[in-house]
Amino acid sequence: MAKQKTIFFCQQCGAESAKWQGKCPSCNSWNSIVEELIVKETKKEIWDESTEKTGSKSKKLSDVSATEIQRIITQDTELNRVLGGGIVAGSVILVAGEPGIGKSTLFLQACLQMPDITTLYISGEESMQQIKMRADRINARNEHFYLLTVTDTQTIFNEIKKVKPALIVIDSIQTLESPFIESAPGSVSQIRECTAEIIRFAKATDTPVFIIGHITKDGTIAGPKVLEHMVDTVLQFEGDRHYAYRILRTTKNRFGNASELGIYEMSENGLRQIVNPSEILITQKEESLSGIAIGATLEGARPLLLETQALVTHAVYGTPQRTVSGFDLRRLQLLLAVLEKRGGFQFGVKDVFVNIAGGIRVEDPAIDLSVIAALLSSYEDTAVAHKSCFAGEVGLSGEIRAVNRIEQRIAEADKLGFEKIFVSKFNKKSLHTKTNIEIVMLSKIEEMYRILF
Ligand code: TYD
Ligand code: MG
Repeated sequence: MAKQKTIFFCQQCGAESAKWQGKCPSCNSWNSIVEELIVKETKKEIWDESTEKTGSKSKKLSDVSATEIQRIITQDTELNRVLGGGIVAGSVILVAGEPGIGKSTLFLQACLQMPDITTLYISGEESMQQIKMRADRINARNEHFYLLTVTDTQTIFNEIKKVKPALIVIDSIQTLESPFIESAPGSVSQIRECTAEIIRFAKATDTPVFIIGHITKDGTIAGPKVLEHMVDTVLQFEGDRHYAYRILRTTKNRFGNASELGIYEMSENGLRQIVNPSEILITQKEESLSGIAIGATLEGARPLLLETQALVTHAVYGTPQRTVSGFDLRRLQLLLAVLEKRGGFQFGVKDVFVNIAGGIRVEDPAIDLSVIAALLSSYEDTAVAHKSCFAGEVGLSGEIRAVNRIEQRIAEADKLGFEKIFVSKFNKKSLHTKTNIEIVMLSKIEEMYRILF
């Protein structure tokens, strides 16, 4: 006889508790605790047998064979990049994104473009006809591509035994349902159990699995943050609905760099990879406008030139406004305070707006210098010298600090035809190769102001 048990789960962070509470003691969010019914049966899972066979005994590290990790290289170079060079065998990859951003399209396309690899696409959201229509739209073909539209995990595992796929996509985790758990699909306990079953399966059979998950409005992976630490890799698929650009970002990766970025464009027939993002992200106008500066940033291992735009206007309302898009608001406040105190600029009576063009969110501190340049340019209403770009972090006393991989940034700027790059003079010792671009070394923001205006 199955033993019935209920547990209270926080839908935000997945914390468990024995009783209901108004506020989650773990993540402090209000009204997020929900009761879920769990049925504990004597579990017998299909993949338990195989783990028993291999015997999960401890082993000496020196006895573990250090063969190269096997990776499936996809046709999609952006996807390979964010995964750290292809799909690692047996890895479980969570792909999170808002509904309608293009997650299903991306993976349908990636799977269809690998003609030699047997893939199983499990969809609990769309019918086979709908997926077929989408596949026709994308216009790719794979004779080894199988579709499955069931949501019960045990049926799925049985089907996997028959098809023997080399790659599995689950669209989406919120629709899956494990027979061992009583609560509804999409609840924390269901999501957690289904993911755990998938992970056990993936590790036992060395099959890579992509798990698609919807994100809630506030950006957490629909309630359960719990998934993030269970899986090997977490990818975020994001973008602005009003732009065609979509960004695939690594936020966790056990097999590679965790700050990689892939850029796509949503077109009429699927997603197109953008190989040279800097070229499209900079609006290369012939006339120079005030309030625009180009920052030489780095996303993961890839240099990316971005346009920072600033608008500084006289504040009409009592409290001056600071609005950002793609940049950290606190960081902007800090930079404005530095300009006010060290440079004597009166930003306190101005409204300030900062925007990173193309809907990209930047975390690289090297963008500081171009934000400062854009702010000063708008403040003075004078354009920054044509074909110049910036790479430097700004410290609290107005000093310009060195940034990492400066040579890569300079090389990218040079490649795109920039004539001048402003960097920190502390980067001098890491410069070895000769370039055509003029490198301006600075130690303080006042120096930059004097050179620019
Ligand atoms: P979809 O992959 O269904 O999003 P998700 O799985 O993340 O919910 O993408 C849906 C959107 O993409 C939809 O608004 C239509 C658009 N789209 C295109 O613009 N071109 C295409 O070729 C395809 C297949 C979809
Ligand atoms: Mg979808």
